[in-house]
Amino acid sequence: MDTSQTEQKPGIMGWIDRRFPFSSMMREHLTEYYAPKNFNFWYFFGSLLILVLVIQIITGIFLTMHYQPNAKLAFWSINQGIMNDVEGGWFIRYMHVLGASSFFVLVYFHMFRGMMYGSYKKPRELLWLVGMLLYVALSAEAFFGYLLPWGQMSFWGSNVVISLFGAIPVIGQSIAQWIRGDFVVGSPTLDRFFALHVIAVPLVLVILVFVHILALHQVGSNNPDGIEIKEHKNADGIPLDGIPFHPYYTVKDILGVAVFLAIYMGLIFFKPSGWGIVLDKLNYVPANALKTPPDIHPLWFLTPYYAILRAWPSKLLGVASLAAVYILMFLIPWLDRNPVKSARFRGVFVRINILVLSFSFILLGYLGLQPATNTYVLLGYRFTEIFFSTFWLMVYMNRVRSHMATLIWWIVMTGLFVVIDAWMVSVRAHSWGQLLESLWLPIGYVTIILGGAWFKPSLVADKPVPERVQA
Ligand code: HEM
Repeated sequence: MDTSQTEQKPGIMGWIDRRFPFSSMMREHLTEYYAPKNFNFWYFFGSLLILVLVIQIITGIFLTMHYQPNAKLAFWSINQGIMNDVEGGWFIRYMHVLGASSFFVLVYFHMFRGMMYGSYKKPRELLWLVGMLLYVALSAEAFFGYLLPWGQMSFWGSNVVISLFGAIPVIGQSIAQWIRGDFVVGSPTLDRFFALHVIAVPLVLVILVFVHILALHQVGSNNPDGIEIKEHKNADGIPLDGIPFHPYYTVKDILGVAVFLAIYMGLIFFKPSGWGIVLDKLNYVPANALKTPPDIHPLWFLTPYYAILRAWPSKLLGVASLAAVYILMFLIPWLDRNPVKSARFRGVFVRINILVLSFSFILLGYLGLQPATNTYVLLGYRFTEIFFSTFWLMVYMNRVRSHMATLIWWIVMTGLFVVIDAWMVSVRAHSWGQLLESLWLPIGYVTIILGGAWFKPSLVADKPVPERVQA
């Protein structure tokens, strides 16, 4: 800290600075934090995520004042107490419920941006890992919160998810029982989920967000061109393509906040149930352990995982593929090892692969919301295959490969699809007739990418990267 400056500084700010590094912190993280000058639309979401975290914590505090974490009272304390008796309670609740969904919309945009611009590559690998931890903590927070209204969907949804742990060999049943605190979901489960939702996980989230921002400011922001602005500095050590975060990006972020709040409030006032996807109609019925609803599914932002789980005829395989999705997402910085960061300067197939990864995830989300009919389950299985393929194709496209390598890649991937299909028939999950009707989907995608790369390597080759960021 520059003590000579703070020693002389008059007034209240001088008094504070001599006791706490307030001004130097503001300088380091705002007015003298140089961010690339070419941030675009995709750079709104980080600050919006912080805003939503604050909204969730504040509305959560007010909801906790009126909520009863008790299996006999929970449902009524929300549906009668908060929604009808507490003044403005409905507004706070809708803010919290739609805030949770907004959180995930924003986080998925935020992650998509990271993938497009290679923001997970050196030196931002740790930033990505902390981001992934945030995503896991966020999913846990939403899962714990969903039990609290104690409606039919809360109760049965939690039952299904907790019983997944039972699929783990040997210790699975004991883990499931340990999580529930009972043999079935009941009062002890509600008590512990309340504690985790209200204090434990929010604390973890706040700490992780601090670490995330510190890690970001250590290495500096990436940008749509994926070029390190720190590599070109002027005589004062200021990046030539950087502008101070404050006031330039604080002003830009205010626009993002205004647009976000308009959409968010619009939904709260006009479509609070989010077309039945955010607030399921089944959750307006109190939990009943003796009446299983015909169609149980988790909240929309976790339904892609649900579709992947249902795609497998074995619960253990389903749980293993869920774990694989998270592991692969954590590993992205080491799967995509091409040094060119931004997809702008990568082959067109790299961009298509990112789009197919995202599209198959969204489609799996849609399929997970549908009843478990044969067609939906089979489509879920095919798009699970396509989703996983995008990660292996990411590895393939690290560089332009030889014809031999391309052929081996194709044989292994398509061979795997056929072998898994044969296994599906052997366990009588589907018939050959049904499987052959849709086998073209994963094989078609892999063949387009690998076939294209075989005949026209420029489709996966890098383009020249400019020295400095573009205006
Ligand atoms: C509560 C959740 C999160 C919050 C509050 C948050 C906040 C932020 C903020 C404020 C920034 C800087 C502004 C910006 O670049 O948009 C940022 C950057 C970044 N975040 Fe997050 N983030 C969260 C979750 C995630 C997740 C889930 C990932 C990925 C797995 C992630 C990966 C990144 C990366 C790679 C950057 C740097 C982007 C670049 O410089 O191009 N974040 N985050």
